[in-house]
Amino acid sequence: MQKPFNFEAQKTLDILSAGAFLTTRSEGRLNTMTISWGAIGIMWGKPVFAAMVRASRFTHGLIEAAGEFTVSLPSQDMQKALGLCGSASGRDIDKFEAAKLKPAPSAKIKTPRIDCKGTHYECITLVKADMTPQNAADEVKKTWYQDNDYHTFYFGEIVNTEIVD
Ligand SMILES: Cc1cc2nc3c(=O)[nH]c(=O)nc-3n(C[C@H](O)[C@H](O)[C@H](O)COP(=O)(O)O)c2cc1C
Repeated sequence: MQKPFNFEAQKTLDILSAGAFLTTRSEGRLNTMTISWGAIGIMWGKPVFAAMVRASRFTHGLIEAAGEFTVSLPSQDMQKALGLCGSASGRDIDKFEAAKLKPAPSAKIKTPRIDCKGTHYECITLVKADMTPQNAADEVKKTWYQDNDYHTFYFGEIVNTEIVD
């Protein structure tokens, strides 16, 4: 039986928690931001990556409009670029230029991936869900959302996985 994923779970989660790139493009505007939270699993009978994007991010508007995104989990040292893409906003600068990143075409969606060694997921949003003060536990609100900048979850079907060695 063909397996929907091609990864070792712990290794993938270790890379994600150190930082991955969430890339979006809408109306010709390409942007990437660093993520370290997310989930990978089977949902609605499909392989899914769930990304969490706060409403304040430039990425939020792009991912809403595009309905798709890529996630690049680097296997080479990208700490400098991850630091920049996790602190600067695409509203203010072109992060590809600033971090010397290159886009590479995806196989199944229009949004490109980052041109680097690692695992790349091409995702089409199946479901999105807004976090609200009503649906979060007090402890979570107190720790993470004192500024009311809640995440939206984007559950993307992984329509293609590319591994670049
Ligand atoms: C290691 C790391 C992980 C991050 N993870 C997330 C995340 O999962 N979701 C999120 O909304 N922001 C996350 N951020 C913050 C965004 O990357 C940051 O606000 C970025 O500047 C947003 O870019 P944008 O405005 O171009 O979308 C993270 C930052 C770092 C440094």
